[in-house]
Amino acid sequence: MSERLLEGKTAVITGSGSGVGKAAALLFAEAGAKVICADVQDEWIANTVSEIKSAGGEAKAAHCDVRKREDIQAAVDAAVAAYGRLDIIYNNAGVSSPLGKTFLTNTDDEIDRLTEINFRGVLYGCQIAGRQFVKQGGGGVIVNTASAAGLIGWGGSLYCGTKGAVVNLTRALAIELASENIRVNSVCPGVMVTNFGIGAAGNLSEATLAGMAKIAPIGRITDASEPARVALFLASDHAITITGTNIPVDGGMTAGKK
Ligand SMILES: NC(=O)c1ccc[n+]([C@@H]2O[C@H](COP(=O)([O-])OP(=O)(O)OC[C@H]3O[C@@H](n4cnc5c(N)ncnc54)[C@H](O)[C@@H]3O)[C@@H](O)[C@H]2O)c1
Repeated sequence: MSERLLEGKTAVITGSGSGVGKAAALLFAEAGAKVICADVQDEWIANTVSEIKSAGGEAKAAHCDVRKREDIQAAVDAAVAAYGRLDIIYNNAGVSSPLGKTFLTNTDDEIDRLTEINFRGVLYGCQIAGRQFVKQGGGGVIVNTASAAGLIGWGGSLYCGTKGAVVNLTRALAIELASENIRVNSVCPGVMVTNFGIGAAGNLSEATLAGMAKIAPIGRITDASEPARVALFLASDHAITITGTNIPVDGGMTAGKK
């Protein structure tokens, strides 16, 4: 990264122990941000923080279950206590539908887990950061991770529903918070291999990987760093007039039928 796009900014990133969130934490720190790495997996965020520090960046870990308002509040408070203010929240933590389940077989526990992590967690993050931005006098950036599955009906109905909710929350909040100079956008990744869902096995067969690659017109799997780079752009002043958008980072999979 030649340009320090986030010099002097403070960011909270949820789900920064792995995948897109970890890639974003490394990129944001490389771009000059001080990063609060928030996740339920303490060991994973300790690794993220250690990698950032080894590269000369600044970061702290915050144990955070996004289902709990007080955990997200604590992560934001940690940013303010350590660095004086909050400039950016990246609400990225999310989980997939249980493999092999259909909507008609989803249990109440599964419905609660997905709606609470994928939607309520984002909602809390937007509200807690939004209140902090207003307290500081206005101005701030919210980036959410939605999904290609929030833009089209693909990827499981329960998951799609939670991500579609993030997409429309992003639009409505952008309008509501514009007068406070707060921008709100989302990134909508396509198929990736991370610790998430189908990729979680970590040892996917060649045939499975080839099948996943074919889903996008560009014929390959999206790398976690790719949505993270778009999140970095959205968080930066290069995106100063961009708000209320949900940007597919999906190799064209939501552009239409192949
Ligand atoms: N992997 C994909 O194919 C894909 C596609 C589109 C969108 N997404 C979205 O991208 C985002 C990141 O997913 P990823 O692929 O990097 O997955 P990942 O599993 O590698 O990373 C997700 C991170 O979120 C954390 N997390 C899970 N539950 C949490 C909770 N309750 N509180 C705080 N942290 C929690 C996990 O510990 C993990 O570190 C998610 O919102 C996901 O829905 C993923």
